[in-house]
Amino acid sequence: MKHSEYSVIIVGSGAAGLYAALKISSQIQLPDGILLITKYELGESNSKYAQGGIVGVLHQNPGDTTKSHIEDTLKAGAGLSDERTVNYVSELSDEVINDLINFGVNFDKDEQGKFNFTLEAAHSFKRILHIGGDATGKGIVDALISRIKKDQNITVAQNSMAVELLINSDRECKGLIMYNSETGEHEIAYSSSVVLATGGLGQVYKYTTNPEGATGDGFYMAYQAGAILQDMEFIQFHPTALALSASNKDRFLISEAVRGEGAKLINKSGSEFMSKYHDKRELAPRDIVTRAIYNEMKTSHADNMYLNASIIEKSKLMMRFPTIFKMCELNGIDITSKPIPVAPAAHYTMGGIKSELNGKTSISGLYAIGETASTGLHGANRLASNSLLECVVMAYELADYLSFSNLETPKVIDKSIINTIDLYSDSISETDYNISALKAELKDIMWNYAGIIRNEEDLNKALEMVLELKNNFKRNYMCKDIEEYEYRNMLTAAEIVIKSALMRHESRGAHSRNDYPQMNEMAEHSIITKSDNTERMEYAR
Ligand code: FAD
Ligand code: SIN
Repeated sequence: MKHSEYSVIIVGSGAAGLYAALKISSQIQLPDGILLITKYELGESNSKYAQGGIVGVLHQNPGDTTKSHIEDTLKAGAGLSDERTVNYVSELSDEVINDLINFGVNFDKDEQGKFNFTLEAAHSFKRILHIGGDATGKGIVDALISRIKKDQNITVAQNSMAVELLINSDRECKGLIMYNSETGEHEIAYSSSVVLATGGLGQVYKYTTNPEGATGDGFYMAYQAGAILQDMEFIQFHPTALALSASNKDRFLISEAVRGEGAKLINKSGSEFMSKYHDKRELAPRDIVTRAIYNEMKTSHADNMYLNASIIEKSKLMMRFPTIFKMCELNGIDITSKPIPVAPAAHYTMGGIKSELNGKTSISGLYAIGETASTGLHGANRLASNSLLECVVMAYELADYLSFSNLETPKVIDKSIINTIDLYSDSISETDYNISALKAELKDIMWNYAGIIRNEEDLNKALEMVLELKNNFKRNYMCKDIEEYEYRNMLTAAEIVIKSALMRHESRGAHSRNDYPQMNEMAEHSIITKSDNTERMEYAR
């Protein structure tokens, strides 16, 4: 098998991976450079589609304070956020936003040249920075990519999928195996510092806002390697994805910022309903708005509710949300005059690979940053626009940590590594799988039995069905192509979500079970009455 050596390997080219590569390259002497692996084209990621913005608790925003942002984050997190992490991230916000600006990221400003902060659900202050109105992710990704392309230290491997980590007998990560979909070959990349920036698992669910690459690959690889995962029961369902029809499954997001600017949720008859659920109505924490819409849909046997944005002044609506306006127009909806059909969709993985803010995991030499990591920042429910902030804070801290580390490439390849390589050197059985049908089956199971509202019986059903799918898929290690690898990874990610959900015997934040007392949705935040389960659910092989 072809092999190469690098000082640092980064997997993933979303906000976390791109920014980490640039920060590491600009701060550290790298004898063997950085390898940036990404399974599709450079920048294809959840990050690229981020709309609403990024939290900026900036000195230039009079009146806003880290104290207020910390309180908002803790409230949304429903008693499960790690307070030290929340404080640290909030306090670093000003520094990392300014660093992003130095890397060429251009946030929207008003006519006076001041940042155009906006409001999102459960924030008590206008502190969200955005780009191109509702194209924040693209703005960040494009700016970072243009720097990456000029950086001599960074080798980019596009259309290359990391498929297995190489762990030696001392439980240290020493590199990975990747599959190059252009050549159809497997290759080895060695390094004593491997960073997973592989994003979340939204694609495990039938309806999702996530693009096709969000298949939980990082969770599979970390789990296989024996790393600890945590909080995997907490999947955030965004309340307002564009719901054109039941067959429209990968759903375009209608940003929370639209509600932040005044849009109202209504039912088919045009009546508002959010006052029944929370005193902050449309701007209640995301999990509460999701359950409210879900409940309205169930009780009225409707496929969707509606978001009425036409009450926002027309020129403002078109200027603030050009991408949403265009996408809806393409689908025959003029949002300046018509309500937008919306329904919840899987959006964000709150849990992940247990990591410190600098990305350190429970395995030496293995780092996880961004959505694939779990630092405890989000607790049981993420506050809007805290995710991009977490991505950049973690990349920033990782670069700092690695600048004090030994970045020598590994010289000794031991038996444990050779055994893993052997698993990918075999020839593959001829069995043909209809992967798109199998993926659809898995997504249905997860949506129906491990989705927005859960219970023991449904979760057990889901587990049984997922284990059967796993048993029927005979490719535990080497697969034929990217689609097969993604399905292999999705099965393991789904199993971990279900098992974690079965372990948490309460309803908290985004993990809502109808066999445990439901929270009072009118409450200030979503801490549940029965709260005997404040520890994290950890999961490892
Ligand atoms: P990603 O951006 O998902 O990047 C993961 C990368 O890893 C991708 O390049 C992927 O191809 C690659 N990859 C995965 N597996 C492999 C593998 N095995 N081998 C090689 N490469 C691999 N958050 C906010 O804070 N504000 C917002 O406004 C906002 N809006 C959002 C809108 C949408 C539609 C979505 C889906 C999410 C939004 N989020 C938002 C969430 C936020 O965008 C993500 O959590 C964040 O961008 C994650 O960044 P990341 O770098 O960790 O992962
Ligand atoms: C949105 O724009 O609604 C998404 C924001 C987020 O996920 O943080």
